[in-house]
Amino acid sequence: MKNPKRLLVAALLLATLSVKAQTPKQAFVNNLIKRMTLDEKIGQLNLLTSDMDVTGPFMKPGYKKDIEAGLCGAIFNAYTPQYTRQLQEMAMNTRLKIPLLFGYDVIHGHKTIFPIPLGEACTWDMALLEQSARIAAQEASADGLQWTYSPMVDIARDPRWGRVAEGVGEDTWYGVQVAKAKVKGYQGSDLSANNTLLACVKHFALYGAVQAGRDYNTVDMSRREMYQYYLPPYKAAIDAGVATVMTSFNEIDGTPATANKWLLTDLLRRDWGFKGFVVTDYTSINEMIAHGNVKDEYEAGAAALNAGVDMDMQGGIFAGQLKKLLKDGKVTQKTIDSAVYHILAAKYDLGLFKDPFKYCDNERAAKEIMSAENLAAAQKIAERSIVLLKNENQLLPLKKEAKIALIGPLANSQRDMIGNWSAAGDYTRAVTLLEALKKRSVNVQYLPGAHYTADTTLYKRATQKQRLDAADTTDSQQMLAAAVELAKQSDIVLMALGESQGMTGEAASRSNISIPENQQQLLRAVYATGKPVVLVLMNGRPLTLEWEDAHIPAILETWFLGTKAGDAIAAVLFGDYNPAGKLTMSFPRNVGQIPVYYNHKNTGRPMNPYNKYSTKYLDTENDPLYPFGYGLSYTKFTYGEVKLSKQQLTAGDKLQVSIPVTNSGNYNGEEVVQLYIRDLVGSVTRPVKELKGYKKIALAKGETQTVTFEISEDDLKFYDKDMRWKAEPGDFTVFVGTNSRDVQSAGFTLK
Ligand code: BGC
Repeated sequence: MKNPKRLLVAALLLATLSVKAQTPKQAFVNNLIKRMTLDEKIGQLNLLTSDMDVTGPFMKPGYKKDIEAGLCGAIFNAYTPQYTRQLQEMAMNTRLKIPLLFGYDVIHGHKTIFPIPLGEACTWDMALLEQSARIAAQEASADGLQWTYSPMVDIARDPRWGRVAEGVGEDTWYGVQVAKAKVKGYQGSDLSANNTLLACVKHFALYGAVQAGRDYNTVDMSRREMYQYYLPPYKAAIDAGVATVMTSFNEIDGTPATANKWLLTDLLRRDWGFKGFVVTDYTSINEMIAHGNVKDEYEAGAAALNAGVDMDMQGGIFAGQLKKLLKDGKVTQKTIDSAVYHILAAKYDLGLFKDPFKYCDNERAAKEIMSAENLAAAQKIAERSIVLLKNENQLLPLKKEAKIALIGPLANSQRDMIGNWSAAGDYTRAVTLLEALKKRSVNVQYLPGAHYTADTTLYKRATQKQRLDAADTTDSQQMLAAAVELAKQSDIVLMALGESQGMTGEAASRSNISIPENQQQLLRAVYATGKPVVLVLMNGRPLTLEWEDAHIPAILETWFLGTKAGDAIAAVLFGDYNPAGKLTMSFPRNVGQIPVYYNHKNTGRPMNPYNKYSTKYLDTENDPLYPFGYGLSYTKFTYGEVKLSKQQLTAGDKLQVSIPVTNSGNYNGEEVVQLYIRDLVGSVTRPVKELKGYKKIALAKGETQTVTFEISEDDLKFYDKDMRWKAEPGDFTVFVGTNSRDVQSAGFTLK
């Protein structure tokens, strides 16, 4: 093809072909963009909250006017078929009739509320985690919504941070599995179906590493730490096809995530191939000014758009600044158009251009929301989220005939049962432990015994903006005395203690993560009666429980379990369901140990009790009270010897690790058999162990099952000295066990 004429013809042909090669979506959206004015384009980048429910400053009371003028492309905090229809009708009266997109924080269920994510993670059951997301999507979409701000996949090693409740804990590998399951659950296989949602992975990125566990605080981390431990769950969500990404409030490498071009463009779009749209967190463009990264809103708007943000959540910065920025040449038309494209493409995928009212069906809402089926799933998942932390002398399960005293501020609080971020959840439908016990017609007497806390500052800060504000002014000494009397009259005492839901979640960091002091006083006073005590914990984070663990014979971690909380706890207390939950975040002995996590490094001076100059504390142990992966059962599981199919692994080959597990106790039960690996020598130092697999098995009493895992070179890969993802030949230890601490090991070599 040396002939220039022929070359020209070929080039023309190619050009026509590439125009023709546009998908119907590209053609539709590009054509629409051509017809839009600059104002209409900027409007699509503008996400505003309705006045139903807000988590930050409510800045745009006139949001309806913006919709009518075509200057707002998406709304959050508005749901129900009626309300979304009313707002969508406004959009349908605009010049181009571009439908609105309705988003909401559907975090652990919409109306049927499931356990908080940190609790649900303890099921170690990806099918259940996907199912709860599926049900949440079904209910939310029946209620007028198309977009959820979930999953939150921020790896977190600091339980002082209140938002650990929204994530799945400290482990990267486990976080990856959950990210995939959740995206699949929300989005299904067809976004244009009317019962799926756009998912939004958040908070991109590294928000879980805020210094000192204080919300919204600074993050500072090496690239290696990011790539190895913090980024993989976000990446897993992208690979699973997540439609949207939310930026985080924190800075990364000195630049707020929302203005971080390396993060939002180089990494997310170029390296990871993300095709959806990026939304900011609530007013995070505006917050760049307080961060000290830009002078004013004008600079903030340019920084965010040029970094790769497509949609401004509630800040009004794009709406207010982009026109001028374009005129001044600070942003380009191409960048604006590309942001508009990402957003319109998502609306197209949902089928909103074909039928903007497809999610506004009153009949469907009435039928599908909180159906008996959904509630049954909520109970099943809640039961499986419960973690038995201690059970001395088989105090649990309870005997039916026992005379029970139920004591504690959380025993009959419907609001607390659905936990934080239960946005549309109807707490009046939540089952408390008291109600569940009464339904079972057991012999139970109840008294609160204490307020949530006697610390008035903590109380005020925690209840700010919560739905139940009224402080209970009953005399606390009288409450305690009456509860002790009740305990004395009983055979056994159930104590429902912990945190109120407002003490956890966003903007709920605590520097002291014990059970509040006044509740501890109550617990100690009841314990002093000599009656057997079962501590039923309700809380949104790992707590420090050294005294409780040393004294109280039975401890059950129940988190905030959702709509069916009470029924699930009662099922476990009476042995209808044998608990099998395992922690996905370490419980420290005290706050001074934080961060304490299982996959730490060995250091140059590993802990040695006989050597003063080894890494340790003078006043406490290095390991946590309850380690990652920990949880007991009413039955006993005995592990046999771990066997490897061979001692040498070569690339492309597989090695089998097997271990017989026997249910040697008195109940049928389930066990999560966990596999960890340690790379003994690396071009960069490697953790003492890393989770690489697990199997959840059901064993009838007396039954033995041999559990087999397969290891390949892929499981041994990490970011090496030159930041290449690869495995290095050498020696490895494989560990198998019931939690990250109690394991057996064997060695092998990678050739
Ligand atoms: C939170 C986000 C949430 C958003 C919208 C923010 O305060 O950080 O997680 O999705 O509000 O409600």
